[in-house]
Amino acid sequence: VILLTPGPLTTRRQTREAMLQDWGSRDPAFIELTAELRRRLTGLVHGEQSHTAVPLQGSGTFAVEAAINTLVGVEEKLLVLANGVYGERIAQIAGRLGRRVETLRWQECAPVDPARVRQALQLDPAISHVALVHCETTTGLINPLEAVAGVVAESQRHLILDAMSSFGAITIDLRQVSIAALLASANKCLEGTPGIAFAIVERQLLARSKGKSSSLSLDLYEQWRGFEANGQWRFTPPVQVVAAAVEALRILEQEGGPEARHRRYQDNMATLLAGMQRLGFAPYLDSRLQSPIIATFRIPEGWPWTFEAFYAALAARGYLIYPGKLTHVDTFRIGCIGAVEKSDFAQLLAAIEEILSRKT
Ligand SMILES: Cc1ncc(COP(=O)(O)O)c(C=O)c1O
Repeated sequence: VILLTPGPLTTRRQTREAMLQDWGSRDPAFIELTAELRRRLTGLVHGEQSHTAVPLQGSGTFAVEAAINTLVGVEEKLLVLANGVYGERIAQIAGRLGRRVETLRWQECAPVDPARVRQALQLDPAISHVALVHCETTTGLINPLEAVAGVVAESQRHLILDAMSSFGAITIDLRQVSIAALLASANKCLEGTPGIAFAIVERQLLARSKGKSSSLSLDLYEQWRGFEANGQWRFTPPVQVVAAAVEALRILEQEGGPEARHRRYQDNMATLLAGMQRLGFAPYLDSRLQSPIIATFRIPEGWPWTFEAFYAALAARGYLIYPGKLTHVDTFRIGCIGAVEKSDFAQLLAAIEEILSRKT
């Protein structure tokens, strides 16, 4: 089966095979594996000098929640930039944690506008942190990271970036772009298996964050101190998932790094978009906003299929696609990330064409 979703997604056999071994979580071999994981994560975004990687058990949301809890103090204030579900989720997390939070919203088909962010920061000196979603997986839209990071840096605020669905496939250089904390997980563009998330945080900022988190387990400061003290995870690590993540990072390097992965995903996306348009499906996003991660397609008016029936027909042929997440338009999504190639999309398109020919 081929997963054409935003994750978990199709992984390489070599990555899954790395999970066939048992590891002692306090054994030197696993301590070295964890160190390699942390080194490779910071290396991927050129953060060796300024940042430290803090892996955390759980899905991506766990890292988002841990970052807000650890980095935004109760006296501080978070500005969330939202143009989709994941931006809204950050605001929800901050609210649950009792943090002061304000949300600037855009339509789901529109990118975050740096000028509005600058204005909001000028008007409210209480805002200390800004949260942005790099690739809004709700639609597949890519937000203008460099421009927003520039505005946040010039206003001397801290940027928290949800790079969950871009990390590993869209180049980020922490020497060039000012990001206080970058959040990601193993099971998206890194092509690892689900079970761990990462925060790559400015070391100086993290060092000042002791005692801020109200949670024992979702505390990036204590998690970091734990790694620094003895190289070990504070609580039971998903050892096999860590091994798979390290293998996936080695494979990413062999593939040529994020630039090469970006090219492969772009090839996938170009094949998908051209083929779907030929079959009568219009993409939801303007092409300038489209990331190579996932595409949203409008369901044509009067289409004789329900999404569920279409999904089942494709699943029966070995392809798992994804439902839409928009409230105001009927859509579905197809992911281009994972261990998949252009030829997989050519075959997917042939399968869709065959399915549609049976009911038109
Ligand atoms: C941009 C973004 N943020 C956060 C998440 C949440 O990650 P998880 O479902 O692993 O908790 C996702 C998952 O798709 C995502 O795409």
